Amino acid sequence: MANRTIVKMPGDGIGKVVLEETLRVLDSAGFEADYVEGDIGWEFWKTEGNPLPQRTLDLLEEHKIALFGAITSKPKDEAFDELSSDLQEKGLVYSSPIVGLRQHFGLDICLRPCRTYTGNPLNFIRRGVGDVIDEPEVDVAIFRQNTEGLYGGVEWSDPPPQVYDALMTHPKFQQNFGDSPKEEISVSTRIFTKNATERILRAAFEHAKKYSYKSVTVCEKPNVIRETSGMMYKMAQEIQKADFSDIALWNTNIDAQMMWLTKNPENYGVIVAGNMFGDIVSDGFAGLIGGLGFACSAQYNPETGVGVFEPTHGSAPKYADYPVSIVNPIAMVESACMMLDFIDEQDIASKIRKAVADVVAEGKIRTYDMAKMRGKADVVENGAASTSQMANAIIEKL
Ligand code: NAI
Ligand code: MG
Repeated sequence: MANRTIVKMPGDGIGKVVLEETLRVLDSAGFEADYVEGDIGWEFWKTEGNPLPQRTLDLLEEHKIALFGAITSKPKDEAFDELSSDLQEKGLVYSSPIVGLRQHFGLDICLRPCRTYTGNPLNFIRRGVGDVIDEPEVDVAIFRQNTEGLYGGVEWSDPPPQVYDALMTHPKFQQNFGDSPKEEISVSTRIFTKNATERILRAAFEHAKKYSYKSVTVCEKPNVIRETSGMMYKMAQEIQKADFSDIALWNTNIDAQMMWLTKNPENYGVIVAGNMFGDIVSDGFAGLIGGLGFACSAQYNPETGVGVFEPTHGSAPKYADYPVSIVNPIAMVESACMMLDFIDEQDIASKIRKAVADVVAEGKIRTYDMAKMRGKADVVENGAASTSQMANAIIEKL
């Protein structure tokens, strides 16, 4: 029996498939672990009224490390309609189990690396000097604050009087919103704490140091959002000066960054941002290296050692029922490599990453996205690799 236990949380739709295929890759690479299954997702909302049952939290509390596929979320009305009839009278409200996991375990560090695979037909190209086609090599690590900011959930429509009155003490609120009736106002807050801001900044600088990145870029909007973005940038300056003076600190605005990332993506190293801007900029960079089939992520709490490793993509329900699964497992495989890094199994991670790189570079086995096909059920008949065939190709290289 292996002495390590990993919680596998397949979730819904294609999450189940990419996770199973990834476990085959881990086995073939010689990674030894026992797996226990954690229930999460839409099934458990429908049958139990809770997409993240307590028993799953207990498992993660015990074993600390989880591989997670993807879940399905649906709008409020559908959530109610699909709830089993005996639960419909209980006033249950659906909330995202991923956000629940982040908040329960304080998984405040989210890392989303975006690295070019040589030979990936989905790599970003641009017109260079003299109209030559350049294929810049992207290698960025995006650190996204994962628990606060605009996704912190502190929001109201028709805010309660105390909140409204407090807002009215701000001259800008009075000036810009004072004429609107209270019941027509919706407020979503963007709260940053020093503690969490320092943790994400330090994680970014430590990563830059460990992997020899030349720069850390704070990607926010401090010239406009002065309090929160401003605080993050100021703290970054202090931390850099005190502890990381050999790493350059850059400061970009999120809007300009989204433009520059197609002009000069090769110039960036580590990027750090609050919750929403981190979400945006990481999807932007992921688009340059092949999109959702390649975008992996880690979320963890450096103090407790709890870590959840998952592809960025969702459950892609329209593909989930195809008789042969067509989705690209690489994002999940790469997420598992991030797990291996996290638990000090870098050698196995490197082996797997090399195997993936070899398969991509060789170009013989390509899932439908890499083959630039539309995601129909017949893509495999038409030459695209299935999810299993891609996993097999990686295993063969191993
Ligand atoms: P999605 O990521 O599931 O799919 C969007 C499209 O991206 C797919 O139709 C497919 O064309 C492509 N795609 C996704 N994964 C792929 C892969 N591995 N290989 C190749 N192509 C891939 O996002 P969508 O359709 O917006 O959401 C579907 C469900 O997933 C929703 O219920 C949503 O709430 C949920 N979701 C869950 C996430 C998570 O579990 N972390 C993240 C995003 C969405
Ligand atoms: Mg996103």
